[in-house]
Amino acid sequence: MNKVKSRGSGRWSAETSPVPLRPYKFPKGFVFGAATSAYQIEGGIDASTGRGRSIWEPYFEKRPGSDTGEIACDHYNRMPEDVRLFKKMGLQAYRFSVSWPRVMPEGAGAVNDKGLDFYKRLVDELQAAGITPYLTGYHWDLPQALEELGGWTNRDTAKRFGDYMEILARALGDRVQHWGTLNEPAVILSGYTSEGLAPGRNDAKLWSPLVHNLMLAHGYGACAVRAFNPELIVGCTVNLVPIEPANKSARHAARRMWQRDYAVFLDAMLKGEYPKIVLKEMEANGLKILPGDMELIVGSGLDYLGVNWYLRLVVNRLGRVIPVPAAEITQVGWEMHAESLTSMLVSMQEEYDLPPVYITENGAAIDDKLVGGWIHDVVRMKYIHDHLNALESAVARGVDLRGYFAWSALDNLEWASGFKMTFGLVHVDRMTRKRTMKDSAYWYRDMIAANTGG
Ligand code: FCB
Repeated sequence: MNKVKSRGSGRWSAETSPVPLRPYKFPKGFVFGAATSAYQIEGGIDASTGRGRSIWEPYFEKRPGSDTGEIACDHYNRMPEDVRLFKKMGLQAYRFSVSWPRVMPEGAGAVNDKGLDFYKRLVDELQAAGITPYLTGYHWDLPQALEELGGWTNRDTAKRFGDYMEILARALGDRVQHWGTLNEPAVILSGYTSEGLAPGRNDAKLWSPLVHNLMLAHGYGACAVRAFNPELIVGCTVNLVPIEPANKSARHAARRMWQRDYAVFLDAMLKGEYPKIVLKEMEANGLKILPGDMELIVGSGLDYLGVNWYLRLVVNRLGRVIPVPAAEITQVGWEMHAESLTSMLVSMQEEYDLPPVYITENGAAIDDKLVGGWIHDVVRMKYIHDHLNALESAVARGVDLRGYFAWSALDNLEWASGFKMTFGLVHVDRMTRKRTMKDSAYWYRDMIAANTGG
């Protein structure tokens, strides 16, 4: 993949595209979009906005010199301009998240009308531009006030999440049809078991209550949206990393790691139970599953499963991740290996009674170069094309795929890794915040047109 040469300077053109532009064999109604998340793009965190503190403010205050979300892409102030850009990019759908502390500064109780109003305007702008909104309730920015009460280690936070989703449903349920509860429970909990994300508590023992409380939060959140209007489409997004055995003797270790880190959420939401090895660990940690909990989780019913997919991992007999020789990797060190996406989806299809699936995130961090005003990010374009090919194969093998969201619409704050890691289809200048469509954005636009007759 790295062998694909960037073209010289000059304007993007479909005629000379280095990556094919063709219709893929996807079912009718398949949507192409792009995704972002609130804290990574919005900025607008000062007192005048009425937003409360999130867990990211103390996290970055303890790490002076870090890039932060204080301004990010300044999307809070440039939202209409961004929606015009998304329209220019030909997006059919846009996946965004709502900032809980913007809507409920203390996490519970009082609502910040200014905050809710921002999302109402965003949805109105999207709809006026003919772009379908896909809303996610929680993408990692917990109100700090709730963190002080234990955050996601406190079962009560799951209930508070249900209350917050009810407020969102009441405010936006008339104009947003596609709802998502959590983004990536596996990564939310890593903010507690490691230091790499807020709140950075770095305590491995917290794992069991976190798994269960996050699943309960999904249950409460989904029920709140359905209670407002049962016709709304409600799902949850998990990040899935297939764990592949390096050889036969590593099969058991690979399966175990997949179950503990990923299938744990799929089993809870789709089967109403935790895998045995997880249950054992939970019980050893003294976690109590109360009567009705698993019914709430599975009973909330997934209308769709959101899958965020970036990489696979290969493990040895001891369950250690081993490097793949000659692997092609992105800026963040993740292997580009689209074939594993097909095999993962096909084996999930065999194991579960899968609801329709959306790829809610997929993309590559590339060290982009702005040359004469253009960014010839051929590797990113090829990455997306390879993954669409992989999805086409999954569809041919019976997986019910309904849409694809590129991560990300804009270069943004890649959490603790800062602004250096660029995943966007659109470049954002860090000083002026000027937006520039990369070649991948032009390719994506023309690819969508080729697939929709647009
Ligand atoms: C996903 C996150 C998203 C972004 C990408 C690169 O795990 O959901 O916010 O950080 O990774």
